[in-house]
Order: sequence, then structure tokens, then C-alpha cells
Amino acid sequence: MAQITEIAPDLYRISVLVSELNLQFNHFLIRDEEPLLFHTGMRRMFPVVAEAVGRLIDPATLRWISWSHFEVDECGALNQWLAAAPRAQAVCGQLGAMVNVQDFAAREPRALSDGEVLTTGRHRFRWVATPHLPHGWDAGMLFDESDRVLLCSDLLHQFGDVEPVTGGDVVGRYHEAVAMMQAHPVLMDYMPFTPQTRARLERLAQLEPRILATMHGSAYEGDGAAALRAAGDVLEQLLGAQPAGR
Ligand SMILES: [Fe+2]
Ligand SMILES: [Fe+2]
Repeated sequence: MAQITEIAPDLYRISVLVSELNLQFNHFLIRDEEPLLFHTGMRRMFPVVAEAVGRLIDPATLRWISWSHFEVDECGALNQWLAAAPRAQAVCGQLGAMVNVQDFAAREPRALSDGEVLTTGRHRFRWVATPHLPHGWDAGMLFDESDRVLLCSDLLHQFGDVEPVTGGDVVGRYHEAVAMMQAHPVLMDYMPFTPQTRARLERLAQLEPRILATMHGSAYEGDGAAALRAAGDVLEQLLGAQPAGR
């Protein structure tokens, strides 16, 4: 059963622990005039996430379905959600709509340009295009300007059955997680460190988020700008200078 935590006013973290992976998958529901779900979850996780959403709203009233980049944990269950919620529409970045979602989604998506705002009622979400951060050409993040929450996808990924929200050392946990992935023969090179990585993180830091709502692990409450800049140090240290042939 999913664990639900309100991490900001009317912003709910719906967390499903996959014990075999020692990993939480977090989905975020914003309860507003036009409810928005960020991360659909995987197709096979749909019944669990839908049950949890149903504890918060009538799932049929869902209006917006969004995510960062095209991957099964981000948007695999999109079409199940579109079937369950007749008024719902996918909303993602222009590039993601163009290269994936216009074809993949059962209904036409709404495509946001970089910096465009989506208003759901009380909440205002700004789409920030972040190509290849955390990964994926189409990557982007939604920033809830109303409550300064950054829906930051795989950034600050942490392993373990951790607390829903922490003010503790998520950057240290992120370092451990990226190092573990990098040591894995298949999962290595989880995120790229590119010439643009620092600048993209700096742009996010300048939003001065007070909560970083990460997809895997605890949401971080505190100086989000400092945590994002420190995440850049982690990525550069672990992935910035790799031996040839990797
Ligand atoms: Fe991802
Ligand atoms: Fe993910």
C-alpha cells in the first residue's frame, strides 16, 4: 500500500516502496481546482497509485498529468490514467511532446515551452526545460511557484525506506546512490555530467526552492539552492572525469 504524506499545502507525496530494489517510487498529487499528478508510475504500479490517488480525490477528476522525462516510472501508466480520467491531459515540454508523447499518448498532449506557466487554481507551475538533467533529451521540471516546491525527478535520488521529508543530508545520500549506480555493471552512467550541467543546476537554484520533491527518497526541506549546487559537486566528482572507454 502506498504511503501518502502532505509535504506542502495540498501537495501530496504518494510513495511506493519496491523492496527488491530497496527503492521508493514517489508520485506527487496536487489537489487544486484542476488536480495535477506528477509521475504516473509504471504500468504495473497503476492499481496501487490509483488507489492512493483515490484516497485524496476522485481519480476521474484528474485534469493534468505531467512528468520530467520519458521513462516508465515517469509516465509509463499515462494511458491508463487518460482512460481513468476523461478530462485529463498530458502536459510536458515541447520537445517531449514532439518526439514521444504526441504519438504515445492516447490523447493530444499540451506542450509547454521553456519557462511557460501552467495554472491549476491556487498553484502556478513553471516548466523549466533541463535537457539531460537528470537524464533524457526531453527532461524538464515543474516548479510550484506558489509554495516554492521543485518537482525534481531523479535529482537527489536516495536508496532505502527513508522518511517522507527530511532536512538532513540528502546530498550525502545522493552521493552514495550515484556511486552505487556507477559501480553497477548495467546501471552505470545513470546521469551525465555535461558542459551544461552546472548552468542548468544554477538556473534551478536561482528559483530558491524550499522543498525539493525527489522521485526516489526523501523530499528535502531547507535551502534547496545550496542542495542543488552541492548536487552538481556530486555529479562532477563521480561522473565528470571518467577513464576512457566508459
Ligand atoms: Fe529517470
Ligand atoms: Fe526515476
